[in-house]
Amino acid sequence: MFKALVLDKSPEFAAAIREVDDGFLPPGDVTIDVDYSTLNYKDALAITNRSPVVREWPMVAGVDGAGTVRESSHPAWRPGDRVVLNGFGVGEKHKGCLAQRARLSGDWLVRLPETFTTRQAMAIGTAGYTAMLCVMALERHGLEPGEGEVLVTGATGGVGSVAVALLSKLGHQVVATTGKSAEAPYLKALGATVVMDRAELSAPGKPLQKERWRAVVDAVGSHTLANACAQTRYGGAVAACGLAQGADLPATVMPFILRGVALLGVDSVMAPLALRNEAWTRLARDLDASLLETITREITLSDAIGTAHALMAGKIRGRVVVRTAD
Ligand SMILES: NC(=O)c1ccc[n+]([C@@H]2O[C@H](COP(=O)([O-])OP(=O)(O)OC[C@H]3O[C@@H](n4cnc5c(N)ncnc54)[C@H](OP(=O)(O)O)[C@@H]3O)[C@@H](O)[C@H]2O)c1
Repeated sequence: MFKALVLDKSPEFAAAIREVDDGFLPPGDVTIDVDYSTLNYKDALAITNRSPVVREWPMVAGVDGAGTVRESSHPAWRPGDRVVLNGFGVGEKHKGCLAQRARLSGDWLVRLPETFTTRQAMAIGTAGYTAMLCVMALERHGLEPGEGEVLVTGATGGVGSVAVALLSKLGHQVVATTGKSAEAPYLKALGATVVMDRAELSAPGKPLQKERWRAVVDAVGSHTLANACAQTRYGGAVAACGLAQGADLPATVMPFILRGVALLGVDSVMAPLALRNEAWTRLARDLDASLLETITREITLSDAIGTAHALMAGKIRGRVVVRTAD
């Protein structure tokens, strides 16, 4: 028997820590002992039943997991291998990793870089790996250090915190926007040179505004993304990955057709394996492990439901790792 955070709808929604056995696990060619999972925005949406993230019931929550292979019939994986899983519909339509054990497809797994513990892998999690994907997308568009200010929105969140730390370590001048003014010292410690009140970007704005940003990592969407595009310099790029303010995009085409601004969509869930491996290799190289510790707090499986509600209420800073052992 092992513990899992089970979401059920029979017919009322309920989230609970339950003792289950291997018969509860879905089909898959690799079974892993999960050391750590994490709470991403999407996990919190699922656990609090805020939006239709879960598509099969009952579900085990947890879009991310890191641990050790226990059993494998997949040619790439052997017992004892250390692996990390992000997305691929896990925790949405395939039972997830907020559990002591998970059964997954070997095709979804990434080998954990030597430099990371399983705890560090989950301190990064989908949020941090998505931040890396955003930085890589901006680099593919030509972003180099020393070219001007790079804006990060939703900066005290998981994606935002890791994006600030990464961009700063890579030598960029990072401007962080936040709704939590008291967290300015935290953002400066991560490497932000300027901290702005998110209210400056979150209200409806003009289609074209004063040019400021060389590049943007946006985890927020809605008016914030529209204003970020309207303030991006000629030829700059905006990596859009989130919707914390809203899924709408109340913008015009003006920044794109008059300033050649590029809007780069970033998806972590179905990103191909080659891109994932590159992102994890880059994280091992470019993310300061001591800053990762500053960003992270640890909870246990039994704290996860309460913490998911706090995350939805905007009360959590940075990343939350979930230890599966009691
Ligand atoms: N595309 C992908 O594959 C992918 C992967 C991971 C995450 N995401 C998305 O990225 C977003 C961030 O994820 P996360 O895990 O970093 O979540 P998170 O830790 O909850 O961070 C979200 C941050 O957004 C800011 N925020 C919240 N409500 C806001 C509002 N109404 N207006 C403006 N800002 C607001 C807050 O930062 P401040 O208090 O500092 O302003 C908050 O900390 C989510 O929408 C998530 O779904 C997408």
